[in-house]
Amino acid sequence: MQSVLSSNISAELRRRINDASRVLVLTGAGVSAESGVPTFRGGGNSAVWKGMPFDVISSAGMVSRDLPGVWEWFDYRRELLKSLTPNPAHEAIARWQDRFRGLTVVTQNIDGLHQLAGSKKVIELHGSIWRTRCVTCNSRFAISRTEERRSVCADCGDRLRPDVVLFGEMLPPGAFEMAAEQAAQCDLCFVIGTSGLVYPAAGLPEIAKAAGACVCEVNPERTPLSFVCDFVLTGKAGEVVPLL
Ligand code: OAD
Repeated sequence: MQSVLSSNISAELRRRINDASRVLVLTGAGVSAESGVPTFRGGGNSAVWKGMPFDVISSAGMVSRDLPGVWEWFDYRRELLKSLTPNPAHEAIARWQDRFRGLTVVTQNIDGLHQLAGSKKVIELHGSIWRTRCVTCNSRFAISRTEERRSVCADCGDRLRPDVVLFGEMLPPGAFEMAAEQAAQCDLCFVIGTSGLVYPAAGLPEIAKAAGACVCEVNPERTPLSFVCDFVLTGKAGEVVPLL
């Protein structure tokens, strides 16, 4: 892999960034990789849990079959996340709030690291590991970083589940629609650290491109989305994003 240097970010990309006013940033697991969060694909210890592939333990069916098992896995992941901090990519993206007139961060990550870095407008397409949701009345409760998580719903007393999107489930109501609206209105779209394999999130760069936006990918590897992009910056998010 030949990584991007500040000097080989093209003048054309710099011009597009300087001229941009509405910017959409789509992020995936790769943006958090340098914080120590394992990615889903391409290795990492989140791919398998007690012999079960992540798309099995993280599936809608598991909530009805074995909710304590699902909690065991998510509690384990949350425990790992507790000590992790935002990396230079999260921090640079948070600073972009002051640089562009409109900035929307759309993330597939559930780790909360964009918010921890200071990003305010974050659309979480796949929910958050820092929230819990009632299986009956859908009330949501924040999970504290310091206290035990609540075990039953404060509103109706039923069981709580992680407020994350599991395989076979719909996205949170309105989340994708809001993201798609922003994608259709942006003039610059960054696609950072996602394999681009999971829809509908992976459709956002295409929506942006079709609406006339410039699309720029940051990833150490090429992805199916590279073909949609006007610029492909090969390298790690934590190294490349601060150069932009
Ligand atoms: P993936 O694990 O599929 O892809 C991670 C991407 O990050 C790959 O393209 C890597 O090349 C790239 N990558 C690795 N290290 C990087 C770094 N330091 N800087 C930049 N990029 C790096 O993760 P996602 O695309 O986020 O959904 O996966 C999408 C969804 O699939 C997840 O949200 C999850 C999973 O199923 C649910 O759980 C609902």
